[in-house]
Amino acid sequence: MARTMTPRPPDALAPLTADLGICFGGDYNPEQWSPEVWREDAELMVRAGVNLVTVGVFSWARLEPSPGERDFAWLDEVLDLLHAHGIAVDLATPTASPPPWLGILHPETLPVDRDGVRLVAGSRNQFTPASRVYRDYALAIATDLAERYRAHPAVRMWHVGNEFGQIDFGPEAAREFRLWLREKYGTIDALNEAWGTLVWSQRYRDFDEIVPPRRMPYMVNPAQSLDFRRYTSFALQRVFAEQRDAIRAAGATQPVTTNFMGFEPLTDLWSWADEVDVIADDQYPDHGSPTASSDIALVQDLMRSLGGGRPWALMEHATSAVTFRPHNLPKTAARARLDSLQAVARGADAICFFQWRQARVGAERFHSALLPHAGPDTDVFRGAAALGADLGRLRPIVGARVAASVAMLFDWESWWAGSEPGRPTDRLDTVEQLRRWHRLLWRRGIAVDLVRPGADVSGYRAVLVPHSYIVEADAAAALRAAVEAGASLVVGPFSGVADRDAAILLGRSPVLLRDLVGVSGEEWVGLPDEPTALAVEPAWVTAPTAALRAGVLGERLRADGAEVLARFDGGHLDAAPAITRHRVGAGTAWYLGAVVEDAALGAVLDDALDVAGVTGATADRALPDGLEAVQRGEVLFLLNHGRTTGRVSVPGARRDLLSDADVDGQAILAPGAAMVLIERHAQ
Ligand code: GLA
Repeated sequence: MARTMTPRPPDALAPLTADLGICFGGDYNPEQWSPEVWREDAELMVRAGVNLVTVGVFSWARLEPSPGERDFAWLDEVLDLLHAHGIAVDLATPTASPPPWLGILHPETLPVDRDGVRLVAGSRNQFTPASRVYRDYALAIATDLAERYRAHPAVRMWHVGNEFGQIDFGPEAAREFRLWLREKYGTIDALNEAWGTLVWSQRYRDFDEIVPPRRMPYMVNPAQSLDFRRYTSFALQRVFAEQRDAIRAAGATQPVTTNFMGFEPLTDLWSWADEVDVIADDQYPDHGSPTASSDIALVQDLMRSLGGGRPWALMEHATSAVTFRPHNLPKTAARARLDSLQAVARGADAICFFQWRQARVGAERFHSALLPHAGPDTDVFRGAAALGADLGRLRPIVGARVAASVAMLFDWESWWAGSEPGRPTDRLDTVEQLRRWHRLLWRRGIAVDLVRPGADVSGYRAVLVPHSYIVEADAAAALRAAVEAGASLVVGPFSGVADRDAAILLGRSPVLLRDLVGVSGEEWVGLPDEPTALAVEPAWVTAPTAALRAGVLGERLRADGAEVLARFDGGHLDAAPAITRHRVGAGTAWYLGAVVEDAALGAVLDDALDVAGVTGATADRALPDGLEAVQRGEVLFLLNHGRTTGRVSVPGARRDLLSDADVDGQAILAPGAAMVLIERHAQ
């Protein structure tokens, strides 16, 4: 995975936040309402402190009622009205949902699923990114919008499409996939070699014989699947980039963005990140899950990292219940506030919701909004207005950065290749492992950046590799350089297994990392459901007293210079090393030869962080249950996601920007409470 890192663009949100402070608002769909309602909307937005709305995401049928026709009059009025009320607009190209006439006139614009079923209009997202016809219609409306509104004073940002996440297996996709493969491989022989098509008699004579991985009798070739995932991300990104370029070609100079969906498997966001001016994300954690707050913290760290640390936008989240789950739990206003402040703590300078006004009709009629069906005399609206006021108090932190001294490797290609069927276990999920490792740091108040394999990590004190199935030479070299210079490295199991074509690297594993970690393996095995005990070796003087156990997957390792800290105690891998430590240059590398439970993982991470001198945002080594602590610029965010009151030591005299209260020595946070503490001398 050779990486050419383009320089990160500057903070494109800065011109907006210089005027508005933290941006606050949401999706606004005026096409669903009458002009009388628009006027009420604008007044209520002002009351709630809303200063930014995303307009027109799904308005294509209203803007282009019939092919080539244009109806902009209503949008003129809406934009003028919003501007008159001082509300900025993130204007959307409406291209996520083509009108029904497009699919009727041009059925090839509709996507086809894995089983060959062509999807129809009546919902949304009914387009294939492969279709030239769809893309031309999308470009035409994007161009006309940009030409008309490029100089409108309300328009401060452009928003292309919505949540790119379409997949198509039909004839259009087959054509484009083949072109993409020709470009990548040049000759069919090169493709056959890379895909290993001699297995199961898959050898192709020509690119024209290749189809997307549609429904097949048995397991798909993993290299074919990996390339199709790469192609799909590319095809979606091309739709975005074409519209962005059309907006710019029309003379618009505002930043252009689109809303990501966190760890969405269809889009390789490392390659998308350099294409957008503002990193923006939609976040709908399931608050029924006990790990919701730490899981979403990981996504927020990813967003900050995608932008190289620059402020990002929380483009959508919910004030209360969503409607896409089978059973939808509401949120309290306190919870929505805490979620919003959490995003700010982790680098967001824009806090927006789906949506401004709750719909009366359509599939999302029960989805919460800033302004519910019952109107402004509601807890939800009062909560929204209170949040608007809170965000207004956070102006001093606009543009501030979160400094992390720990890097965690993550890469879509590794996730994809490591998710294909036919592995020793399908219970090892890359993102789930990331969440587990990140959660342990989250509990310690330690900031983490997500980093793409191959990137320079020498600026970090500790580098974590929970599960990186693909490790190429550049990634191995970057890890070695960091360790030699003094960093701690912790590598999780089943890492460095394959190359970029998803072919297994031959030799004792992890082939490209084994000199660095000082162990090598010869077998990966699924572990039984009953956890396997680990026995601590004398070398591990800081080992916890709790029982240490492993499950899911283990490796038959041999120490080649590393100290063995723990061994398997029983089972197929009995007596084999399970946790090892290897000093290299000024640093140390730990290797985990199994998916170990939290007691063991936490102890290894503590060792690695202690050796590297990494500390958390507060003096407390372990924060009270559910308490989150993040230092952003000059301020310390304390957020209590837990169910009990939490106490945190905070040295020095501080003031809470939210309540204006002074805090000396100790902060006490009731469940759901938040503090944003600034040192009094720093004000
Ligand atoms: C997504 C979409 C929105 C809306 C919300 C509902 O984020 O972008 O249009 O459907 O989900 O949660």
